Amino acid sequence: MTYSTLLLEIRDGIAFVTINRPDKLNALNDTVVSELAQAAAALTADPLVRGVILTGAGPKAFVAGADIGDLAQQGVMDGRRRALNGQQMLFAFERMGKPVLAAVNGFALGGGCEMAMACHIRIASENARFGQPEVNLGITPGYGGTQRLPRIVGKGNALWMLLTAEHVNAADALRMGLVSKVVPQDQLLAEAEKTMKAIVARGPVALALTIEAVDRGLETTLEEGLRIEADAFGLVASTQDMKEGLTAFLEKRAAKFEGK
Ligand code: COA
Repeated sequence: MTYSTLLLEIRDGIAFVTINRPDKLNALNDTVVSELAQAAAALTADPLVRGVILTGAGPKAFVAGADIGDLAQQGVMDGRRRALNGQQMLFAFERMGKPVLAAVNGFALGGGCEMAMACHIRIASENARFGQPEVNLGITPGYGGTQRLPRIVGKGNALWMLLTAEHVNAADALRMGLVSKVVPQDQLLAEAEKTMKAIVARGPVALALTIEAVDRGLETTLEEGLRIEADAFGLVASTQDMKEGLTAFLEKRAAKFEGK
């Protein structure tokens, strides 16, 4: 499949998806959102892909937000549809059953911050800037900013970002827990690849069930969440991956997981 706004490379089981509109700081217009949705579906279905890294083209931006030119044209119902489409696309990455990592290489504003938050792990370069500046434009976030941000950084930090619209630098994003690691820009992709290689060497079924247990558990009571965890713990007992992982440990060798 070819894309007009994305670069896609698959190497050693890892898909590198680069949003490629650097002249517009990789802003998410309708074509980008639609191509990202197509890419998410294709990567979900591709058994050779075990993990995904999302990043932006150029040295300046991950994604500088939804395309403001598009937003300027929208009315009530197409605005709602645009938000729902973007949310569905981000769900497709969040729920693809494979680990997804955002390598945040610059501005991650509005839809860019929202896209990074739908990923399971975020690593930032030192020049990264996060923000939910929608209120500057007289609009509200549409791709999950009011929902995922408080779940990740807590209500106080989230409302601070959402109401002040101020940019948060990489060091503050790390302090808030918005990212897990900050590295120099020239090391970002190598660090992202190293992290993802380490993750995809683990049991694929266990990875998928762990992500699902965390996401579903955050939406429910502790008791229900613990039941989801126990169900996953029982389910993995039926997998070849579990036999292989435990046997490899006992035989003092590296496990070779097949995701079965
Ligand atoms: N939508 C559409 N175009 C955007 C964009 C967006 N969200 N963000 C940046 N661009 C475009 C600019 O219009 C400009 O295009 P042009 O060269 O054709 O005029 C180009 O990207 C470069 O941006 P520019 O503003 O010149 O770069 P800068 O370094 O001066 O500022 C930002 C960078 C990120 C601070 C600034 O672009 C900005 O505030 N962008 C909007 C961020 C935002 O509000 N996002 C949330 C949207 S809901």
